[in-house]
Amino acid sequence: AASAAELEPITEVAVVAHRGASGYAPEHTLEAYKQAITMKADYVEFDLQMTKDGELVVLHDTTLDRTTNAEEIFPERAPWSVRDFTLEEIKMLDAGSWFNEVYPDYSKNKYEGLEIPTLQEALDFVDQFAKGNVGVYIETKAPDVYPGMEEKLVSILEENQTFENRSVILQSFSSASLQKLDGMVSEDVPLVQLMGSAPEEESELNAAFDEIQEYADGLGPNQKLVDPTFMEAAHERHLIVHPYTVNTKENMKHLLSLGVDGMFTNYSDQLYDLLKKTG
Ligand code: G3P
Ligand code: CA
Repeated sequence: AASAAELEPITEVAVVAHRGASGYAPEHTLEAYKQAITMKADYVEFDLQMTKDGELVVLHDTTLDRTTNAEEIFPERAPWSVRDFTLEEIKMLDAGSWFNEVYPDYSKNKYEGLEIPTLQEALDFVDQFAKGNVGVYIETKAPDVYPGMEEKLVSILEENQTFENRSVILQSFSSASLQKLDGMVSEDVPLVQLMGSAPEEESELNAAFDEIQEYADGLGPNQKLVDPTFMEAAHERHLIVHPYTVNTKENMKHLLSLGVDGMFTNYSDQLYDLLKKTG
């Protein structure tokens, strides 16, 4: 993994479109990525799952039921785990209509019938649609459920020359997955350890960051974990800090005041506006 001195962020504070522009379009569809790029996000975030036949698809949940019509199309296949479905089956699903029902204010007819993209399709789309250097910020989700996920990811990124052509950041809640990736990718590729919780005791926090620093370049904490102590401990170790998922301008401003290096947000246009306003 890269050292902090080697990192060259696209902007001082990275705007990461969480699952694409997921506040405005169905998460992890090409439409959500298109809108994120139009909103000038620095990075589009991809969460990875793996199909029964070993293909990487971009989807947040390990199951299909929340964001598709899997229950209707495959009524006998509960609990609709991604790993139990082939790519061909997954491609039969509608990954857009749920959004219109849950978010009627943002619903659009064109969201009906959108597909779950493969990682290849998501990368192709960004390559075709993004004119500038829009980065990809890719999470190995549930890597313990999917042996070989890291190898498959790195091989796709190498085949596509994504490391050469685009800013790439790799992220995971799994330290084992990041350690594996650390041995597979160039030092230039930042690795970010996601954190849902952190030790309250400062000495324990420092010890945890010491360990993370061995293989990662940054932290992706739940925004609730970020305070001056957290920031100081991270930056002392040259670990960048990208909290998730920051969806109000009030919270964005607060985190900017604490000195974060970027944020995951469903509303990347709002963070972009704020950064432009504050210079
Ligand atoms: O990857 C950062 C953030 O997305 C982590 O939470 O559950 O939305 O993937 P989740
Ligand atoms: Ca994620």
